[in-house]
Amino acid sequence: MDTDRLLGALTDFLRIPSVSTLPAHNADCRAAAEWVAGELRRLGCREVQFLASDTHPVVWGVGPEVSGAPTLLLYGHYDVQPPDPLAEWTTPPFEPTVRDGKLFARGSADDKGQVFCLLKAIAATGRPPVNFRFLIEGEEEYGSRVLFELLRREPERTRADVVLIADMSYVAPKWPAVYTTLRGLCYAEITVRTAKSDLHSGEFGGAAPNAHEELVRLLAKLKSPDGKINVPGLYAAVRRPTRAELATWKRLPFKESEFLKHRVQAKALTGLKAYSVLERLWALPTFEIHGIMGGFTADGAKTVIPAEATAKVSLRLVPEQKLNTVERQLAAAVKRFAPKYVQASVKFLHGADPATVKVTHPAFRLLDQAFREVVGRGTVPARAGGSIPVVPALGKSGAAVILTGIGLPDDRLHAPNEKLDLKQLWDGIAVFRRFYELLGTKGV
Ligand code: BES
Ligand code: MN
Ligand code: MN
Repeated sequence: MDTDRLLGALTDFLRIPSVSTLPAHNADCRAAAEWVAGELRRLGCREVQFLASDTHPVVWGVGPEVSGAPTLLLYGHYDVQPPDPLAEWTTPPFEPTVRDGKLFARGSADDKGQVFCLLKAIAATGRPPVNFRFLIEGEEEYGSRVLFELLRREPERTRADVVLIADMSYVAPKWPAVYTTLRGLCYAEITVRTAKSDLHSGEFGGAAPNAHEELVRLLAKLKSPDGKINVPGLYAAVRRPTRAELATWKRLPFKESEFLKHRVQAKALTGLKAYSVLERLWALPTFEIHGIMGGFTADGAKTVIPAEATAKVSLRLVPEQKLNTVERQLAAAVKRFAPKYVQASVKFLHGADPATVKVTHPAFRLLDQAFREVVGRGTVPARAGGSIPVVPALGKSGAAVILTGIGLPDDRLHAPNEKLDLKQLWDGIAVFRRFYELLGTKGV
């Protein structure tokens, strides 16, 4: 493998600040889509199109026809999360830098580096006997609304034997995985208004309601200190994993103390103590506050009673929970917990249903073999705490959906100093290359 040339190409891709949630980066998202389209053309695709191109385009590609060969749809995303806080990056997020065998950049692991592996593995195989289809979108980090609508209108785009998604990580170094579930997501803004306008805190303090105080009281009611979420009805659909599944988790190389010390790097873990940490991360819903806006936060001091405050929050959903239901439950809970004299409203920004996939299709054995040959260990089944909104839709036409990845658990997705180990990158290309060969020669 010409690693220098490959690293140069990935660096070009990572340099593009394709942050899908910030309108200022719309042109960058298009540039990233163009980069992907260029790669697909180089791979000899018969068809390369931008679909739904009034927003960040979905890049669609159809590889050379190989009659009788299996069809493999590759899904990934070229958009990335905002890079802030910038001051915490050792080198700037869009100036990819190698240190210590690791490539640091926003998107190195999530998901540009992994899309790169999927694509370069095809070039490395020459002409694998596989009918490739490509759906590489640019709005995954913002809820995938456009691709969702597209697949509702044109479900035939997902017609394939297998869909391969590399947007996750190994469960531990040297332990590749396939994932059986993803959590869903319900992202919302909760706004509280208490008066017509802000008020002098001396003139009115003591007798006027304060929007921030009301908001934090409301938020505190939504989750107890023990980690229980107090949204009425929320847990009704939650199922515990089977004993057998919980037993397989016990055999994974995961230690709660290590997770606290090296990954979370806090003083203690929180959440429902009656459940193992993996169960809390993979099989239970969450409620998180992402940020609180309003009032006075500039330099200096201002004595004011804010009239309005907004919190950005989200819930993660587990299999059997439905986004629609949870949205209704959250809205009802907010209404119920807000005092009569407070105007509280909920605005839903985006969301995703949870996903469950079976890992029994023959293609899983081929991926297992590819990892075994390249990395020395096959795939273990695990669950994932994150979300990929379109996964349920990608499986609708009956294709087997493979959720896997070549990153490592300490890649710092969405955080400062996101990285991808170069060894994972080269192994990743080799693994997918072998998988394509096996799929093409053995079939499914
Ligand atoms: N690649 C992640 C999803 C992921 C992360 C799955 C870790 C499993 C483990 C994806 O890019 C992502 O971040 N998704 C968002 C979706 C949301 C913005 C709709 C997420 O999970 O927050
Ligand atoms: Mn991703
Ligand atoms: Mn992400």
